[in-house]
Amino acid sequence: MSRLAKSLSGVGLIVAFGFVVEGHAEEPGHFGYGQTATAEQIAGWDIDIRPDGMGLPPGGATPEDGEMLYEDRCASCHGSFGEGVGRYPVLSGGEGTLTEARPEKTVGSFWPYASTLWDYIHRAMPFTAPESLTDEEVYATTAYVLYLNDLIEYDFELTQYNLADVEMPNKDGFFFDDRPDVRARRCMKNCKKSGSIEITSEPPVAEDAEADEESVAEQVEPAPGQAVYQQACSVCHAAGIGEAPIPGDSAAWAERLPLGRDTLVSSALNGKGIMPAKGGQPQLTDDAVTAAVDYIISLSTIK
Ligand code: HEC
Ligand code: HEC
Repeated sequence: MSRLAKSLSGVGLIVAFGFVVEGHAEEPGHFGYGQTATAEQIAGWDIDIRPDGMGLPPGGATPEDGEMLYEDRCASCHGSFGEGVGRYPVLSGGEGTLTEARPEKTVGSFWPYASTLWDYIHRAMPFTAPESLTDEEVYATTAYVLYLNDLIEYDFELTQYNLADVEMPNKDGFFFDDRPDVRARRCMKNCKKSGSIEITSEPPVAEDAEADEESVAEQVEPAPGQAVYQQACSVCHAAGIGEAPIPGDSAAWAERLPLGRDTLVSSALNGKGIMPAKGGQPQLTDDAVTAAVDYIISLSTIK
């Protein structure tokens, strides 16, 4: 800073590079803007509820208190019994399914803590009006969802004192991942330079590893044009939208294939009929579109 600016900064505000800089000594790490959040502002964000119930506001309600409210504000999506309407989440049932091929994870079958339910409803539900419920209403709907899962009785009063004691069936179902590759310790000092690390072990090599590699590559790597086709062309061509010829449909291609690759590529690049140039994606390179045409032709050749 120039001498002049320095002396000016002592008396008030200076304007530098379009920013208004307040002229007092800054603490290191402080950039001279923003303001300290008030306790009230912090409280607006500090809404998490811990598993031990810490953070719960005073209050309480029974499932009976929550029944009508749930029916009114929640059942349209989650069903009167928590069974879920359409594809909205199921909130009840599912016990004993976690080890099955299609586990049904619900509040009752999966969640380890009741506090999460209070926290979740409070911050996120109803889906279309999050944080619109009063604390009493959150207690009431939380109680009702626990009741739907047979975890508390209809007249049990759920309060800030007993919510953490509600035993969730799957509370012991979580454990620390003890597989060997999660045990690595982070190095904090005298660590090796990345350039000096040498890989000393060799992966086991199968006898016909090369052949294996090839067949794996064939399986997982899409043909070069396939990815372009999926992203830019399949929207019309896969379903024949607007009579787009479907790859592999010999009748649809019988009169087009004889036009020759160059003509087909040129149709794809420049558009034809209702097909826009490059399928409507001008950012595609000519090579990408050509590869997609080749991919379509490869499927459409009568084999
Ligand atoms: C308009 C539909 C709708 C309404 C009404 C609604 N929810 Fe939800 N609810 C959802 C959706 C969608 C999700 C999933 C949200 C996500 O995963 O981001 C959800 C998730 C939940 C979950 C977590 C389920 C899980 O296993 O992850 C709970 C608990 C829940 N809602 C309770 C309620 C309660 C209580 C009410 C009434 C106060 C309510 N919801 C009202 C749509 C709704
Ligand atoms: C918006 C829908 C739509 C999209 C997206 C689309 N096509 Fe087409 N495509 C068509 C229709 C419709 C035709 C038939 C046009 C005609 O013959 O009038 C067609 C015809 C073709 C033909 C035959 C051309 C000829 O000369 O007969 C090729 C090749 C082709 N499309 C390739 C592609 C490729 C490659 C892409 C992606 C980069 C693509 N299309 C994206 C609708 C689409």
